[in-house]
Amino acid sequence: MAYRHFEFIEKHAAVLGILIAIMVSLGGLAELLPTFVEARGVKATAGVKPYDPLRLAGRDVYVREGCYLCHSQMIRTLRFETQRYGAFSTAEESVYDRPFQWGSKRTGPDLARVGGKYSDDWQRLHLVDPRAVVPESNMPAYPWLATARIDGADLTARMRVLRRLGDPYDDADIAGAAAAVDGKTELDALVAYLQGLGIANVPQATAVSMSGDTQ
Ligand code: HEC
Repeated sequence: MAYRHFEFIEKHAAVLGILIAIMVSLGGLAELLPTFVEARGVKATAGVKPYDPLRLAGRDVYVREGCYLCHSQMIRTLRFETQRYGAFSTAEESVYDRPFQWGSKRTGPDLARVGGKYSDDWQRLHLVDPRAVVPESNMPAYPWLATARIDGADLTARMRVLRRLGDPYDDADIAGAAAAVDGKTELDALVAYLQGLGIANVPQATAVSMSGDTQ
């Protein structure tokens, strides 16, 4: 009886195809669903705070300019990675990143812990003219960021949306956002964002000095 069923399926490619598709989908769901449930359990650890207005604006510039196309923000759990970039990245560090900037393309170095590695002046100069500080660099220049202003009203609206999505901004944070970025350029914001990357929550035991490493 059962054998005849199998024979029918095996002799009808369309039926076989449909049944295979159903089985593969079930297998896919079994792998995917637990990660969605797990993701909800990921909470910010001490030191991981929602972005302040200037850094949030800087993050938007980072996304708009496509920095992620050349830079990842995820240090893997491999010794040569932690030696070069510092403590490996954890999911908790990215809870306020929408969308996250982990990436996998590394034309340039990983930036997950670049905060504090260079001075603000170095970062500014590097963004406006990378070859002024790293002669062999093939990173594009972003000179227009130095004159473009941050739109405070737009930023306020973005913070409201983020609060709706669960970021713990209070009324005072949102009311003060426009004033916090008043007169600031996109370069100010992007440098503030970069200087904040990975400075919170770095386990000291695994943090490794990155001096002398420019790549
Ligand atoms: C076409 C690829 C490319 C793009 C796009 C790019 N970069 Fe880079 N970036 C590089 C390369 C290559 C280096 C290494 C050489 C150097 O320091 O300039 C680098 C280096 C850096 C460094 C220094 C990292 C370190 O640890 O020394 C920072 C910070 C940085 N980039 C930020 C940015 C930001 C912010 C953007 C977007 C506005 C951006 N990059 C876009 C390729 C890129």
